[in-house]
Amino acid sequence: MANIALKVNEKSHVVDVEPRTLLVELLREHLRLTGTHVGCDTSQCGACTVWVDGKSVKSCTMLAVEADGATVTTIEGLSPYAGNGGLHPMQAAFHTCHGLQCGFCTPGMVMRAAELIQRNPNPTEDEVRHGLEGNLCRCTGYHNIVKAVLTAAETVRGGAQ
Ligand code: FES
Ligand code: FES
Repeated sequence: MANIALKVNEKSHVVDVEPRTLLVELLREHLRLTGTHVGCDTSQCGACTVWVDGKSVKSCTMLAVEADGATVTTIEGLSPYAGNGGLHPMQAAFHTCHGLQCGFCTPGMVMRAAELIQRNPNPTEDEVRHGLEGNLCRCTGYHNIVKAVLTAAETVRGGAQ
């Protein structure tokens, strides 16, 4: 067992994990943050995307011990208003633009997209499509997801002015 300390959604945790434990297992099984999904076992679908030190990462590709000392954000902690039941602009845009159907890919998609507009606040449609290449959706055909990301970017830019 390895003893690791990390911060998840602003809360500090010290946990014992097996060296082989994946970050996604730590989040879902130890910390019960089941908003982070597992959609494949091949590092392809992106349903498990979280932020580690502010960067989006597929949490099935990282060992929990590698997150020792890190700050992790999951879909449960993305919104600065989460405690009040409020949505992050990306979550709100997925809702208003109908950017989901079954919702399985949505947490990972939202985490990836929210990071994307932080790095590039005014993306083109092509840049959004390219930025989401590592996140697969089997339902929507992506059109409304892209619309949601562009809408969220516009909302955030409007708020910053
Ligand atoms: Fe991590 Fe599919 S579960 S990429
Ligand atoms: Fe079903 Fe994306 S909404 S997989």
